[in-house]
Amino acid sequence: MEHIGTKTLTTARLILRPWREADAEDAFQNWTNDPEVTRYLTWTPHGDISVTRALLRAWEEESRRPDVYHWAIVLREGGVLIGDISIAHADAYQETGSVGYCMGKAWWGRGLMTEAFREVLRYCFEDVGFYRINGSHAAANLGSGRVMEKCGLRAEGLRRGAFRLLLTGERVDIVERGILKSEFMKALYASDKG
Ligand SMILES: CC(C)(COP(=O)(O)OP(=O)(O)OC[C@H]1O[C@@H](n2cnc3c(N)ncnc32)[C@H](O)[C@@H]1OP(=O)(O)O)[C@@H](O)C(=O)NCCC(=O)NCCS
Repeated sequence: MEHIGTKTLTTARLILRPWREADAEDAFQNWTNDPEVTRYLTWTPHGDISVTRALLRAWEEESRRPDVYHWAIVLREGGVLIGDISIAHADAYQETGSVGYCMGKAWWGRGLMTEAFREVLRYCFEDVGFYRINGSHAAANLGSGRVMEKCGLRAEGLRRGAFRLLLTGERVDIVERGILKSEFMKALYASDKG
């Protein structure tokens, strides 16, 4: 596998494109300061837009690196910035990486993250050449587990009490999941035929 980086992708309802510093206001407004969105995440609400701006400046700079796979999720209708999806730890020798995603609450429950992640998986397997994509989520984060399940990531194990939620200190179990290229392509072929 050879890294090709963050190319712009489109789906029926979404555009996935590289991050820009100029996205800071919309990202802060729509989710980076929302404790409900960050509840199960490895970061806390930003508190001030300067935190979001500094982060997005760094993301814009790294967006040209071929080993970075990190997209802003934008609604095609109206061009609204609604979320974030990335493949972290992209390793060209192992041919593996790990998904992470989040989205503003206003857009939850419409199948949008499933749509974004399916296209990211297609890109990773068909265009980049990954062998396997990992995913993990708090067992109690049923919505995230369901997105991974709908995208074909099998539950492979449970790490008991592996993570403490940053805002509440509550200790939670982590579900480990993964999907292989062969499984994804088989499902894609089956859905094309159907
Ligand atoms: C997780 C998240 C990305 C899901 O995005 P989304 O666009 O709402 O996801 P989708 O609509 O594509 O799919 C969600 C699925 O979970 C289900 N779901 C959501 N909340 C649920 C709950 N509390 N219990 C059971 N199922 C739930 C939905 O019904 C849907 O399944 P269905 O299509 O079978 O009905 C979004 O809720 C989010 O950003 N959460 C905060 C950040 C986060 O937790 N990120 C993941 C960290 S691992």
